[in-house]
Amino acid sequence: TNGTFLPIQNIQGDILVGMKKQLETFYFFHINDPASFKTALNSYVPTITSTATLLSPASSQPLAFVNIAFSSTGLQALGITDDLGDSQFSSGMYADATNLGDSLSTWESPFAGTNIHGAFLIGTDKLAPQNSYVSFYVSGIVSTFGSSITEVDRIDASARPGDEAGHEHFGFLDGISNPAVAGFSTTVLPGQTVVPSGTILTGRLGDVALRPSWTLDGTFMAFRKLQQKVPEFDAWTLENAIQNPEVTLTVQQGADYLGARMFGRWKSGAPTDITPLVDDPTLGADPQSNNNFDFAHANSSLISDQSRCPFSAHIRKTNPRADLADANTINHAIRAGTPYGPEASSSEASSKTSAQDRGMAFVEYQSTIGNGFRFQQINWANTANFPPLKTVTPGIEPIVGQGSPRTADGLNPVDPSVGYTVPQFVIPTGGEYFFVPSISAITDVITA
Ligand code: HEM
Repeated sequence: TNGTFLPIQNIQGDILVGMKKQLETFYFFHINDPASFKTALNSYVPTITSTATLLSPASSQPLAFVNIAFSSTGLQALGITDDLGDSQFSSGMYADATNLGDSLSTWESPFAGTNIHGAFLIGTDKLAPQNSYVSFYVSGIVSTFGSSITEVDRIDASARPGDEAGHEHFGFLDGISNPAVAGFSTTVLPGQTVVPSGTILTGRLGDVALRPSWTLDGTFMAFRKLQQKVPEFDAWTLENAIQNPEVTLTVQQGADYLGARMFGRWKSGAPTDITPLVDDPTLGADPQSNNNFDFAHANSSLISDQSRCPFSAHIRKTNPRADLADANTINHAIRAGTPYGPEASSSEASSKTSAQDRGMAFVEYQSTIGNGFRFQQINWANTANFPPLKTVTPGIEPIVGQGSPRTADGLNPVDPSVGYTVPQFVIPTGGEYFFVPSISAITDVITA
């Protein structure tokens, strides 16, 4: 163990360790035959990867890890009718899509409705010849579960190649800021928020709902398939490249500057709040300093200033830090998504138009969907007057914020009052809310 009081051999691995994966396949299934599914799942339990396994020495790790999650209709198909205490989970994401700001017309058919009963997440950091470990595990699932399930959809996600590893498709380093979990995380990095274990795990201290006892040490997973329009993003930031009298910038640098202000971080991960005018790759790569800021600089007047970071920036909207008076730990969640789809080609770049589907297989874990993912999306990213009590209206978050008009303010550092009408570069094309049970809940309740 790592000294935690949490039973880490019983908690599925992706939740707390939040792996950056070289490869990750999301295998969405429908249950045809509950009885034979339960028998198969019982035999499959030893293959499900726990947190303890992921923390064990590399030499004793399996070739790939597997986690399993169930939608509300999936649990019902298995005869589990308990109310898990989360209304969004109970209704499913499709029923919530318009509340999230999605257009149902862009949702792909496998996700439209409640047909998905569960998902296997299969990931690895080990690149075998032909990247075959994940497909080997997928074949294992297909043979173990046979006709008890049908594949509804499959997303083969992977880290981007070479120097872009760890960066999402627009080019920005991801996976920097996740909360530390009290009683589990062995280190707390400078600037990192510590949340009670119950903000992430159901049934633990800090979980705000009453739930059946068997849900202890599970979590809710918000899964989103988020398509990213990369050539369009690149072209728009070039066309709108910004300047600042304090530095001399080429047009490309001005485009990178605008992109950095949309995210609140440069492509290297360096926060604009610390280095507002130029990227600083050394800072971006340093976990001891790349998250150590709160938008206030120990000077409360700067909290109303956008010269360093726009109020509307992705990381400011989704984690407002000192913009809110309280620490706001309840609205944190652990992100564990992986990019999917090919690199943008040169012909897509020259036509400034996406020809292939690429984006983010977005995953966020929390004990209450309405406090985590859903709160960040609806109450923060989509809400024009958030963060509150600013002298100007921040506008919507320009990357994932949804709404009309698509106006984000503060992107121009010289005149932050200029409103930018930002095209939609991230298109939600599906998703579902899942429950990720503990391993004992699988053996004692779900397969019982
Ligand atoms: C942080 C990209 C969708 C919530 C970040 C970062 C990047 C990024 C580059 C900064 C790196 C880091 O702090 O780890 C993206 C992209 C998305 C996407 C490309 C869609 C394609 C979302 C969505 C949400 C979200 C839908 C929630 C509604 C967050 C949060 C942080 C974050 C909470 C950490 C903020 C902080 O603590 O400073 N994202 N993201 N992201 N994102 Fe996203």
